[in-house]
Amino acid sequence: MSVWGRLFVDLDDNARYQRWRDQKLSRMPAGLDEYLVSVKDPAHLTRNEFEAIRNLLERANMAIFIAASDDRCNKNIPLNIGAQYSMHRLDHNRGAGRDGVTELTVRDGQWRGGYIPYTNRPIHWHTDGYYNEEQHKIHSLVLYCVQNALRGGENTLLDHEIVYIHLRDNNPDYIRALLHPQAMIIPANVIRGREIRPDRAGPVFSVNANGALHMRYTARTRSVIWRDDRLTREATACLTEFLASDSPYILSAGLRPGQGLICNNVLHDRSGFDEDEDHKRLLYRLRYYDRADTSISL
Ligand SMILES: [Fe+2]
Repeated sequence: MSVWGRLFVDLDDNARYQRWRDQKLSRMPAGLDEYLVSVKDPAHLTRNEFEAIRNLLERANMAIFIAASDDRCNKNIPLNIGAQYSMHRLDHNRGAGRDGVTELTVRDGQWRGGYIPYTNRPIHWHTDGYYNEEQHKIHSLVLYCVQNALRGGENTLLDHEIVYIHLRDNNPDYIRALLHPQAMIIPANVIRGREIRPDRAGPVFSVNANGALHMRYTARTRSVIWRDDRLTREATACLTEFLASDSPYILSAGLRPGQGLICNNVLHDRSGFDEDEDHKRLLYRLRYYDRADTSISL
């Protein structure tokens, strides 16, 4: 692990943590407007557009690009946005097409309809792929809006490094509890006696080989087993309270057609929504095993 990454797990080195924390908070964008980057052609960013998104990814782990494209159904748009930040290894999850792109839309009467993302119901706070195994952790994500709903369907977003800071500032032992490899267990997914996915145990916080912080979380109360100890309970209660707060770092983004989120798998939720014939919500979702590379330039 890099020297940089050790600050997330070395809870006794408070001086280094404080330096990182203060710098991080001083560089955070002030509000939603500061996360928006207008781009002419998302598939081929100009140097300035590329740099604006890169800068936001570095400071706040996310950016929202706004494209004035007539060709907004084109899956190459989100694919190319990711590729420009070295996001290549797509997670071919069960709902994805052969190209690795998942069409998030309401699906009645298909197997997908049994899963909340393919309904119009709200989705609680989570990071994507919290049920994946260690070697298939989701490090980054593109969410691209082809069509928004008539009402609702907004995503609320929160940089997971801000969550880390909130918890550590409350009690460093909360971080210790959430670094535990058995902190959160997602029980096996069994459908009609067939195991689709085994139990998955893992930490909430972990550090990648490149020193970046990763978070694995779901606010679901069913189908999740938290480690049964006092600090884990207190830590998750502190987190739940924070997610329900009016923290200025919690953003509500209603993506419109041609707009997309590129992020290092930050925490997010989705509100429920209503549709009509002209407003059938369709978002393309791309999950990657790569983190967005912010060390490169055009
Ligand atoms: Fe998600």
